[in-house]
Amino acid sequence: MGKFVVLDHPLIQHKLTIIRRKDTGSNEFRRIVGEIGGLMTYEITRDLPLEDVEIETPMGKTVQKEIAGKKLTIVPILRAGMGMLNGVLEMVPSAKIAVIGMYRDEKTLKPHEYFFKAPKDIAERECLVVDPMLATGGSANDAIAALKKRGVKEIKLAVLVAAPEGIKAVQKENPDVDIYAAAEDEKLMPNGYIFPGLGDAGDRLFGTK
Ligand code: PRP
Ligand code: URA
Repeated sequence: MGKFVVLDHPLIQHKLTIIRRKDTGSNEFRRIVGEIGGLMTYEITRDLPLEDVEIETPMGKTVQKEIAGKKLTIVPILRAGMGMLNGVLEMVPSAKIAVIGMYRDEKTLKPHEYFFKAPKDIAERECLVVDPMLATGGSANDAIAALKKRGVKEIKLAVLVAAPEGIKAVQKENPDVDIYAAAEDEKLMPNGYIFPGLGDAGDRLFGTK
C-alpha cells in the first residue's frame, strides 16, 4: 500500500489554519494555497536522487551534486489544483506541466473529465498530481487512471486536506501511489464536503461563489 504522509511542518500548519478561516478572502486564500504548495513540494522532493557532476566555478574544476533520474511533471487537477501550481513551480522551475480538467457532479459526486493535455514524453516522467481537496477520492483516482493509461509509472499525489474516505479510496485503487497532505481531516459530510475542510476550494480560489 502507498504511504500516506501528513506534512506537519509548523509553517504549513500555520498557513493551513489561515485558509481554513471562513473570513479569509480570495486574494489571501490564493496566495497561501500557492505557498503551502511550495512548502509541501520542498518536503515531498526530499528523497530525489542526486548524482555527481563536474562543473567549473570561477576558481576551477570541481565535482558537485545535481538531481538525477526522471524529470518531474506537475499535474494540477482543474480548477482548484491550479492554485497550488505556482508555488510548486517555484521549487522545481524546470518541471513540465500536464493539465487534467475534472469536475464533480454535485448530486452523484462522481468526477467527469473534460480536458487532458500532457507533455509528449509523459510516460518517461515522474508525475506529481496536485489538488487542494481529496474528498471521496474519485477525482484523484480518475486523474491517476488518465496518467497510467498514457504509460506513466511513477505518480505521487499532493493535497492540502484529505478525508479518511478519500485516502482509503486512493490507497485501494492505486496502492503504488504515495499521498502527501497538509492535514487528514475528520470526515466527509453527506454533501461530499470535507469537515472541517476549506469549503469549496475552487470557488474560494477563483472568486466564483
Ligand atoms: C474539487 C476538488 C477536487 C475534487 C475532490 O473539485 O478540487 O478536484 O472536488 O473531490 P473528490 O475527491 O470527491 O473527487 P471540483 O469538482 O469542485 O471542481 P473545481 O476544482 O473546478 O471547483
Ligand atoms: N471539493 C471542495 O472544494 N471542497 C470539499 O470539501 C470537497 C470537495
